[in-house]
Order: sequence, then structure tokens, then C-alpha cells
Amino acid sequence: MQARLVNGESGMEPAPPVRSILSKPLSYRLLYFFLIFMVLGLGVCIVSLNMSRYFRIRHIVPTESSRYNPCSEGTNSLECWIRPPSNLVHNMNDTELFWRATFAPRIKYYPYKRVPKLAFMFLTRGPLPLAPLWEKFFKGHEGLYSIYIHSLPGYQPNYSRSSVFYQRQIPSQVSEWGEMSMCDAERRLLANAMLDYSNEFFVLLSEACIPLRNFTTVYHYIAESQYSFMGSYDEKGPYGRGRYHPNMAPEVTLQQWRKGSQWFEVNRALALRIVQDTTYYPKFKEFCKPACYVDEHYFPTMLSIEMPHLLANRSLTWTDWSRGGPHPATFGKNDISEGFFEKILSRRMCFYNHHLVFQCYLFARKFAPSALEPLLNVSSKVFGF
Ligand SMILES: *[C@@H]1O[C@H](CO)[C@@H](O)[C@H](O)[C@H]1NC(C)=O
Ligand SMILES: *[C@@H]1O[C@H](CO)[C@@H](O)[C@H](O)[C@H]1NC(C)=O
Ligand SMILES: *[C@@H]1O[C@H](CO)[C@@H](O)[C@H](O)[C@H]1NC(C)=O
Ligand SMILES: *[C@@H]1O[C@H](CO)[C@@H](O)[C@H](O)[C@H]1NC(C)=O
Ligand SMILES: *[C@@H]1O[C@H](CO)[C@@H](O)[C@H](O)[C@H]1NC(C)=O
Repeated sequence: MQARLVNGESGMEPAPPVRSILSKPLSYRLLYFFLIFMVLGLGVCIVSLNMSRYFRIRHIVPTESSRYNPCSEGTNSLECWIRPPSNLVHNMNDTELFWRATFAPRIKYYPYKRVPKLAFMFLTRGPLPLAPLWEKFFKGHEGLYSIYIHSLPGYQPNYSRSSVFYQRQIPSQVSEWGEMSMCDAERRLLANAMLDYSNEFFVLLSEACIPLRNFTTVYHYIAESQYSFMGSYDEKGPYGRGRYHPNMAPEVTLQQWRKGSQWFEVNRALALRIVQDTTYYPKFKEFCKPACYVDEHYFPTMLSIEMPHLLANRSLTWTDWSRGGPHPATFGKNDISEGFFEKILSRRMCFYNHHLVFQCYLFARKFAPSALEPLLNVSSKVFGF
């Protein structure tokens, strides 16, 4: 019995056939599932490949037809090297763009009549609410300026064909205040502007900036200055030297650490230094993070080390910090009057080519969109345009 039982139990020995009977449909099923899985996997692969190709194409399509090409095949003339890019859209990433932008002639003399241009570089989130004032400022001075706009990547501008801002957007990336991405955007603006060999002076502005003088005055003030207007000073205390990080040495010492306004004007030699920099960039990227606001320190410090003899050490952009706090004052409709600008335009004295002058500022910020109407109203009397 027991044996039987055992046998009976071992009668389970027919189990193997049972197992094999069971295993047959199981393996078919497994194969079936495996096949389905394969097919599904393949499907997902194909779809994702197509998706990425679709997105790549979507990303590239608008740039493909307008690739930056100074000398298309067959036009091997000087003209094609000195002509500004016909379209600001290109498909170079920053590495490629910076490399391309730093091609610089070694011969000082230009073999053609080069009219030095002022590049106005607008660092914005989206729209330029004060555009009509700027349009008035630029009117009649074609050939002496070029305009570049870096806005947030998703922003679709809507300027009419007749606007000076029409199609002046450069390929952009997200940039955040006080972060290295802000300096990246500024370098991107410089590099794009440098692709036009006629650009000699580069002014950084925001959507809240206005011009305080007419174009002729601005042009001559900048072009005839022996120095570029990069704010740069050695500030003792927590908001100056206090933001220095000892790990920045030996590239940057505490004595070399500078602070200055983000809103600068630099000439081509300084712009080249900024775009080509690989020495200071990693140090600032790693060791100057909020509360070290890198856009107030990186360019002033590196240029003070590299080319101090070219710096005026002051900014051309007036900003009102008198109200205190982390942000400067913003002026709106009710602030604008002739008297308001007299204060800005004549209260301070500064050095210009070693002479003390009253004219220290050519631009001012920050102005709200509501200031536009009264600004247009006073511009001819107060600003001379
Ligand atoms: C730009 O593209 C090149 C070549 O694909 C690559 O080596 C480089 O890292 C890229 N640079 C950036 C900033 O993405
Ligand atoms: C673009 O501008 C035109 C004319 O100024 C205006 O009619 C239109 O609504 C604008 N579109 C957008 C999306 O802002
Ligand atoms: C600006 O400061 C640097 C030192 O950082 C100095 O060498 C240069 O002469 C100054 N520029 C002017 C115009 O004084
Ligand atoms: C423009 O100025 C005139 C005269 O100064 C003034 O009467 C008018 O109200 C001003 N308009 C606006 C929109 O500020
Ligand atoms: C520009 O402004 C200056 C004074 O600020 C003035 O002398 C000159 O006539 C103005 N130019 C034009 C074209 O209005």
C-alpha cells in the first residue's frame, strides 16, 4: 500500500509526460509571446527612430535652407567673406559657432573700405515693448548698425518687414538670471554678431533699456573712445569680494576679482577674448553660483586680467539702485518727464578719454512698457531724436 502509495506518489512519475504535455503549449505560448514582444519592440524602435528623425527634421528644417555660408561654391571672391550673413538662422551649436566666430584677421589693414558698425544686442525674454522708440532712434542710420536679439527659445516674434527688428533673432537657448546660462547667451550674441566682419562695437541691452542720445551722438561717443565701457571695480564687502571663491585661484586671485554691471559695450578685440575664453569659463561656471551672480563678475574679472588697458571700467547704461533691494527701480508712465532725464543726464561727471565730462550715460534702464508713449513724446526734445 505504502509502496503503492509511494508508487502512487511516485505514480506522479508520469508527471514528466504531463509536464511535457504541458510544456508543449507553454513553449508555443512562450514563442508566441516572444514573437509578439519582438514585433512590438521592433515597432517601438521604428516609431521612436521616426519620432527622433521627425523631431530632428523639425528642428533643422527652418535652418536648412538658410545655413550660414559665407562663400557658397563658385563665389570665391573677397566680397563673400566680408558680406554679412544674409540670414541669422544657422544650425551651428555653441562649440561650432564660437570656433567660427573667432576667426580673426592678423593684418590690421582691411583691403576694402570698412565702415565700423555698432552691434546692438538685445537680451530679452520675448517682446521688445519699447521697439517703437528704438525704431525712431535707428531711423536714417542704416549701414552703421546691426541688431541681434536673443529671446527665450519658444518666442515667436512678430515684427513687420519694415521693422529694424525683422528677422534679427539668433538661435537661442534658455538663460536664467545670475546663472552661467546668462553669460552663455551673451557670448552667443557676441559670436553671432562677430560673424559680420563690419561689426566693431558690441552693446548689450535688454527689453527694458532705452537710448538717452540720438544715434549720431551714441556712435561717435563709442567709436571715438579709447576704452570700452565695461563696468569693473573692486568692491570690498559681501557683495563684491565676498562672492570670490578661493578655488578660482590661480586663474583668478582675490586681488583680481572684479564686479560690474551686466550691461556692457565692448570692441571687437574684447569680444574676441570673451568668445574664445576657455581659461576662466570653467572656474566661473563651477565656483560662481548664486549668491555669486556670475554675469556681474565673469567678463569684468577676466577682461581686467587680460586686457585692462582697454577698459573704461564704467558702464554706459544708467540704472537706479537707490531704492535698494536686489532689483533696480523700474520706471513707468508717470515717472517720465523732461526733468526726470535732466537728473540722469547731467548729475554725474566721469572720465571720457581722460577728460572729465557730464555725458556719462548713453542708455538707461529699467523702463516699463507703459513708459513708451511719454518717452516717444519727450524723445526729440530730451534725447535729440
Ligand atoms: C556641438 O557639436 C559637436 C559635434 O557634434 C560636439 O562635439 C560638441 O560637443 C557640441 N557642442 C555643444 C555645446 O553641444
Ligand atoms: C502680429 O502682428 C500683426 C500686425 O501688427 C497683428 O495683427 C497680429 O495679431 C500679430 N500676431 C501675433 C501672434 O501677435
Ligand atoms: C581700468 O582698470 C584697470 C585695472 O583693473 C586699469 O588698468 C585701467 O587703466 C583702468 N582704465 C581706465 C580708463 O582708467
Ligand atoms: C506729450 O507732451 C505734450 C506737451 O508736452 C502733452 O500735452 C501731452 O499730454 C503729452 N502726451 C503724452 C501721451 O504724454
Ligand atoms: C543729435 O544730438 C546732438 C546733441 O545731443 C545734436 O547736436 C545733433 O544735432 C543731433 N543730431 C541729429 C541728427 O538730430
